[in-house]
Amino acid sequence: MGKSFAVIGDPIDHSLSPNIHSAAFRELDLDSSYIAYRIPKGELEIGIDGLKKIKIHGFNITIPHKIEMMRYLDKIDESCSLIGAVNTVSNIDGVLKGYNTDMDGFLEPFKKKELNIIGTKILLVGAGGAARAIVAGFAKEKAKSITIANRSLEKAINLSKFAKTIGLDANAIEIKDVKDTAKDYNIIVNATSVGLKNESSVIELKGINEKTIVYDIIYMPMNTDFIKKAKEEKAIIIYGYEMLLGQAVRAFEIWHGIEAPYNAMKKALLGGF
Ligand code: ATR
Repeated sequence: MGKSFAVIGDPIDHSLSPNIHSAAFRELDLDSSYIAYRIPKGELEIGIDGLKKIKIHGFNITIPHKIEMMRYLDKIDESCSLIGAVNTVSNIDGVLKGYNTDMDGFLEPFKKKELNIIGTKILLVGAGGAARAIVAGFAKEKAKSITIANRSLEKAINLSKFAKTIGLDANAIEIKDVKDTAKDYNIIVNATSVGLKNESSVIELKGINEKTIVYDIIYMPMNTDFIKKAKEEKAIIIYGYEMLLGQAVRAFEIWHGIEAPYNAMKKALLGGF
């Protein structure tokens, strides 16, 4: 019998994960299927029971269940405990094991393009769940320091404390205090949700040089105002879809134990735009 997979969350209609994984199954001729399954907030436990009954082989988790899902795991991978949230689960004979592939997904484009992180100065805008996985990634890859700029200073301070506990030099500021300092950093990341609705970028990028890496984790729209501003300065761009692809590739490899067909998955993802 073929293996079944799902992504759970709410809203889920616009998820690109079914397209990406189905393309991989087709490419490798795997007898597997992947569906989007809407589980509203408050119905996670019953939803998980249902997935276990149909012997789901693995599933991804998105908003709003990434933290609550931790409670229903039998085993927790290190990536998951470090970040405190889960986005990928494997089900082996009824034993649910949780992983977080956001960190590896975030780092994947740097590896693919051979862009250096060691010893760099980072400006991270945003301090939510996604930002935490990003901080863990920069710590793992031995960046020199990170400045966390957030609308609410308190959350930036909390995240900078986390950064320090995992060995990354960090400080916290308010977004409005970034002003014209973007040029002082090697890598600038937008991890806020600003841009999803085509809003203007929350920071200015004027004066950054062509070696600066500018990374927006928003993938829809692809060309956010933040990315457009980076292009005007001729910076090196990493798009949000590259992180999405990176985390899907990692999830695929956890579930199937074989190398993911990167190009086929990329083509399916870009076709979704
Ligand atoms: P995610 O899991 O995607 O990181 P989140 O945890 O809700 O989502 O975090 C959203 C981030 O976007 C936060 O850093 C949030 O700033 P606050 O901590 O001050 O709320 C940021 N954000 C959302 N809307 C914003 C806005 N209009 N201006 C600036 N930052 C905003």
